[in-house]
Amino acid sequence: MGVWARGRRGRYCRVMKAVVYGRYGSAEVLRLDDVERPCPRGDQVLIKVHSVSVNASDWETLRGKPLYARIGGPVRPRFRILGSDIAGRVEAIGPGVTRFRPGDEVFGDNLALMGGFAEYVCAREKALAVKPASMSFDEAAAIPQAGVIALQGIRRRGRVQPGQQVLVNGAGGGAGMFAVQLAKLAGAHVTGVDNAGKLDFVRSLGADRVVDYSGTDFTRTREHYDLVLDLAAHRSAFAYRRALAANGRYFYVGGSVPTLLQVLLVGPLIGRTADKRVRLLVVQPNPRDLVAVAELCQAGTIVPVIDRRFSLSEVPDALRYLGEGRAKGKLVITVD
Ligand SMILES: NC(=O)c1ccc[n+]([C@@H]2O[C@H](COP(=O)([O-])OP(=O)(O)OC[C@H]3O[C@@H](n4cnc5c(N)ncnc54)[C@H](OP(=O)(O)O)[C@@H]3O)[C@@H](O)[C@H]2O)c1
Repeated sequence: MGVWARGRRGRYCRVMKAVVYGRYGSAEVLRLDDVERPCPRGDQVLIKVHSVSVNASDWETLRGKPLYARIGGPVRPRFRILGSDIAGRVEAIGPGVTRFRPGDEVFGDNLALMGGFAEYVCAREKALAVKPASMSFDEAAAIPQAGVIALQGIRRRGRVQPGQQVLVNGAGGGAGMFAVQLAKLAGAHVTGVDNAGKLDFVRSLGADRVVDYSGTDFTRTREHYDLVLDLAAHRSAFAYRRALAANGRYFYVGGSVPTLLQVLLVGPLIGRTADKRVRLLVVQPNPRDLVAVAELCQAGTIVPVIDRRFSLSEVPDALRYLGEGRAKGKLVITVD
């Protein structure tokens, strides 16, 4: 039934363990604390968290960098508890919930509410899907944000065809790990770019060619690509256009703010003459894509590679590990 304690407003409430923070900073500003357990309202589902994975978006929102990570919280963090990729069991539901009941095993990307680095979290039902019974909670938590970024970048928006040249920038991270595998599955010739320490891993995912970003600028080689999926953008929109083949497309997913602004402002103009497209990919989390990636993982067609597992109290270590650029694929916090 959980532990009861006197809460912030003086009334008794159920408490839970959570990793909280109150100001932007490094992993040192995080602490494990007892906090009030959330209560599901409207279309929200209360989930007992079994596993939660770490995303670059958690690291960015912890530090408040790049600046877009401060949307909704310019001075102080908007959320006290980070963690969006959750997998767990439904504990209770709000009055507007129709698709889930207590006891259901679910997973999803809770980017709108966060709060996954905790024993319990509330998520909107539209962010969730039923977890496949044969899939572990750790595997399910590894999929949502990274898997859906990759699916939408490579399949839905990228529409990759057999024989096409695809480049994934940031191929050794969470979304890159899925993107390389999906592009290979589509029959593309895949180039994966990341730091030297991750290139063997990127090759093991199926990449035909690997590039160390510290030694080679892929926009200045003679290669041209039908699709560039950029998870770590920091060059100019003009440089990215240069790397595209005729009719090629470049998608900015994450990276620096100056590059983001340039892609938004001049991207629609600079590609016109050469039939090239330089655009922002705004990822739309949804259960249909979540299930599509999970089915590919269940069938063994692609693999959600988990580099390391951590406990709830080790969330600062996990974020540090990601921020230091050591994570190959996904990091998972096993809460239960
Ligand atoms: N557009 C949207 O709607 C949307 C939605 C959600 C998330 N996002 C964004 O998506 C991005 C990707 O997330 P993720 O979870 O895959 O991140 P991740 O796991 O941290 O992976 C990023 C990878 O890029 C590498 N990298 C860093 N600098 C690089 C460079 N200059 N050139 C090439 N590779 C470089 C990193 O390696 P190192 O170890 O060297 O750092 C890391 O392996 C994040 O920026 C996130 O904010 C976007």
